Amino acid sequence: MKAVFFEKPGGLEVLQCGELSTPKPQKGEVLVRVRACGLNRLDIWLREDQDNARSIPMPHISGSDVAGIVEEINGESFLKVGQEAVLNPAIPCGACPRCKIRQACELVKIFGVKNQGGYAEYVTAPISQFYPKPNNVSFIEAAAFPLTFLTAWHMLVGRANLQKSETVFIWGASGGLGSSAVQVAKHLGARIIAAAKSEDEARRLREIGADEAVIYTKENVEIAAKSLTDGLGVDVVFESVGEKTWNITLAMLRPFGRVVIAGTTSGDMGTQDLSDIYVRQLSIFGTRMGTKEEFEKVLELVATGKLKPIIDKTFLLQEAAEAQRRMVEGKHLGKIVLEVR
Ligand SMILES: NC(=O)c1ccc[n+]([C@@H]2O[C@H](COP(=O)([O-])OP(=O)(O)OC[C@H]3O[C@@H](n4cnc5c(N)ncnc54)[C@H](OP(=O)(O)O)[C@@H]3O)[C@@H](O)[C@H]2O)c1
Ligand SMILES: [Zn+2]
Repeated sequence: MKAVFFEKPGGLEVLQCGELSTPKPQKGEVLVRVRACGLNRLDIWLREDQDNARSIPMPHISGSDVAGIVEEINGESFLKVGQEAVLNPAIPCGACPRCKIRQACELVKIFGVKNQGGYAEYVTAPISQFYPKPNNVSFIEAAAFPLTFLTAWHMLVGRANLQKSETVFIWGASGGLGSSAVQVAKHLGARIIAAAKSEDEARRLREIGADEAVIYTKENVEIAAKSLTDGLGVDVVFESVGEKTWNITLAMLRPFGRVVIAGTTSGDMGTQDLSDIYVRQLSIFGTRMGTKEEFEKVLELVATGKLKPIIDKTFLLQEAAEAQRRMVEGKHLGKIVLEVR
């Protein structure tokens, strides 16, 4: 099959488009012909990080968000050969204490890391990870929502319990995860303040649902967020940027405020005054993807048009390096998706 892969970590130049053997579905797995695969920042981390080379299969095919057509089923399934399907990329272990009580898995794995992902003509995955693709959702849209909508839903609903009456500040709002958070927060009816890097991005973020946008490259974000909330501060901060934003995140929270964090795009290290956490009674929630039930909820909301993924741009599979370049250069607003024809 045709696939885009890398044999060693490195820059964009290590991505190759070539022929690899088509996977065979093991017992309990489905073989799906990929029609579209969404990009995530994770794909960049996997390609660049020297340490990953020891723990991921090489040559490695990235890609966690897959939509396609069922080609072969090895086991019992309600899916049928020829059916259009979408993948839930969060694979629970099924055995940890939390899995046993149907809560978010402690050891959840993400599709496309330890196994081969969707930058390819075919993928295999456990039968239970695939769902029928809603008819009114295109393959491109179906590959643009799973990971980021699941994570944003789990963050804002499952962990931070964001309420309609509350204000949420969203860092990285132009990214795949952040633009999904804007959609989820809007669906919940909360007030959204989005971080933008430019006037143009601020305008586009308002178009996709932000109530206000703060230009973090020019403005003092803490002062701006407080002045937009009558000096009180925001109820919830949606974090995925990390090191560069962490101090501002805590400073812009009102007492009893919550931070929900799923990533550290700008670096892992943060310092903080610990007394501030208890004096102002703040809560910090770390999160990784979400549960099967949350995926099913998000799928239903996408199917009924209540949540709509923001598509930045599509590329052909063989243009994957160009697609990743767009993400690395931060030119995107929303999801970048590869089409597999
Ligand atoms: N825990 C989980 O389950 C989970 C799931 C999905 C994603 N993630 C993590 O979430 C993060 C975002 O992923 P993604 O796929 O959405 O990536 P993405 O599309 O590249 O979005 C990243 C965003 O971060 C913003 N950003 C980067 N550096 C910044 C800085 N110094 N200050 C302020 N904003 C900055 C950028 O906004 P501007 O362009 O406006 O600067 C960009 O839009 C990654 O760290 C990823 O690993 C975690
Ligand atoms: Zn588990």
